[in-house]
Amino acid sequence: MSKKIRLGVNIDHVATVREVRKTFEPDPVHAAVIADLAGADQITLHLREDRRHIQDRDLMLIKEVIHSKINLEMAATDEMLSIALSVKPHQVTLVPEKREEVTTEGGLDVAGQKDRIKYVVEKLKKSDIEVNLFIDPDENQVKAAFEVGADAVELHTGEYAHAITREDKENEIERLKEAAKYGKSLGLKIYAGHGLTYKNVGLVARIEEIEELNIGHSIVANAVLKGLTDAVREMKELINGIL
Ligand code: PXP
Repeated sequence: MSKKIRLGVNIDHVATVREVRKTFEPDPVHAAVIADLAGADQITLHLREDRRHIQDRDLMLIKEVIHSKINLEMAATDEMLSIALSVKPHQVTLVPEKREEVTTEGGLDVAGQKDRIKYVVEKLKKSDIEVNLFIDPDENQVKAAFEVGADAVELHTGEYAHAITREDKENEIERLKEAAKYGKSLGLKIYAGHGLTYKNVGLVARIEEIEELNIGHSIVANAVLKGLTDAVREMKELINGIL
């Protein structure tokens, strides 16, 4: 029997388009419902400290209307911890966050801040929220994730996604495989994500231990292009009075 991998659809970039105009469309809540109805296993969203895309209201409404899993990506700050404990998503993914970055760069340094991460993990788990740590595929970080009591690790696939030569890609896949195997041997659930596209997802999906992938940019990018033909046609019909 072939294994099934859960797909978490990250809807942040629907909110990015809305925030460019500070208007109400496209609404990430609508996107979450459509992704859910299309078969997404979970809706993933990142509430950033600077609120550059997802807003608090998006998280609250999505938690209300989505009945499959909600995976909240957030920094391990007191502000985010208190939001997570009040909204109670099914899963929290702790990620590093820098204001100046375009997107999450590099995994969370769990090994370098074990006490802080352990504190946040314990608080979330006490509230029955599963905790996933977004880390680089590095043995030291996997071990630290286990030691702080995480339920799962999401292996950062950015280096693989950005690798250009075949050799670099193969090396990155090997790193991911080793980290996945080691994490699983410690009893951690193994997830992966970042920079995955329709072209590069196959090799990652084939890694035996991986149970869940979180993908955003490429799905939203594809949706924009696939929907553009209908959107243009409908506007033309409308302005010509045919509707
Ligand atoms: N997983 C994590 C932890 C992330 O921070 C992100 C980006 O928000 C993703 C997955 C999705 O990455 P992408 O948008 O490149 O598919």
